[in-house]
Amino acid sequence: MANELRLFSGTANPVLAQEIADYLGLGLGKAEVERFNDGEIRFAILENVRGVDAFVLQPTAPPAENLLELLVMIDGLRRASARRITAVVPYFGYARQDRKDRPRVPITAKLVANLITVAGADRVVTMDLHAPQIQGFFDIPLDHIYAAPVLLRYFTQHLSGDLVVMAPDIGSIKMGRAFAKRLGGSLGFVDKRRPRADEAEVMNVVGDVLGKNVIMVDDIINTGNSMIEAAKAIKQLGAKKIMAGATHAMFSGEALAKLDGSELEQIVVTNTLDRAPIGSEKIKILSVAELLGEAIVRIHEERSVSSLFV
Ligand code: R5P
Repeated sequence: MANELRLFSGTANPVLAQEIADYLGLGLGKAEVERFNDGEIRFAILENVRGVDAFVLQPTAPPAENLLELLVMIDGLRRASARRITAVVPYFGYARQDRKDRPRVPITAKLVANLITVAGADRVVTMDLHAPQIQGFFDIPLDHIYAAPVLLRYFTQHLSGDLVVMAPDIGSIKMGRAFAKRLGGSLGFVDKRRPRADEAEVMNVVGDVLGKNVIMVDDIINTGNSMIEAAKAIKQLGAKKIMAGATHAMFSGEALAKLDGSELEQIVVTNTLDRAPIGSEKIKILSVAELLGEAIVRIHEERSVSSLFV
């Protein structure tokens, strides 16, 4: 049926795609994402999609195959005459290189935005971009969704007492301020340096944490070093319970083992990526399916998406 909503999933986070489909009360679009013998991606749509309002869910975290899968799927839908194609990218990868901060480096965030657009996406839905201004790298409409309502709901239910919200680096101060306002705590931040890529060194902690419960919030936990080093410094300054909240659980390398042995009592993340271990005592995974599902319905019905956050 023309303009029907259909949700297709790549292979990067099929569990989240299914949860969204369940929220929408739909089955996932019928398609095959497979590999040729040499490893190349083979995509085939197994139903008529002429005139449909197609959404493709695929976080573009490494490996780069995930990004390529998204592009291949968009191309397939475009050539099959979908009316509109929305790339739903809960985690937008390659976002860290978003400017020429030194000579002779690429701007990968812009490159990926170009690739998604050229493949044929008409719009993009994404979550907690590493830098919000990446929105402007797209010349097609983009809806930037925040996981904050999901994380805040959890923290509101599980925290009491004197609270400080800490930004583990300067880049997360804005997120920290929003959380402090909503949770009724004060705001602090950590002056972090990176002696080498992926290493984190705490230079200073700004804010009074003595005898207080602390929540650190960030867009992503990658190696975990930022959160772990910050928690160590905050503990030494006399903080009570220290928790971490982040949208994207990248958990690369030894992150999980290191987080397990850290001063963090609980690490609360969402399922934009599928890398958090289910059933871990320390790691709590919250679903963003309802939030993304609601955004999808509203886009489909041409209703306001921003009103999701008020
Ligand atoms: C900083 O630029 C980001 O907001 C995160 O703090 C950072 O990406 C986290 O990385 P890691 O877990 O490797 O310290």
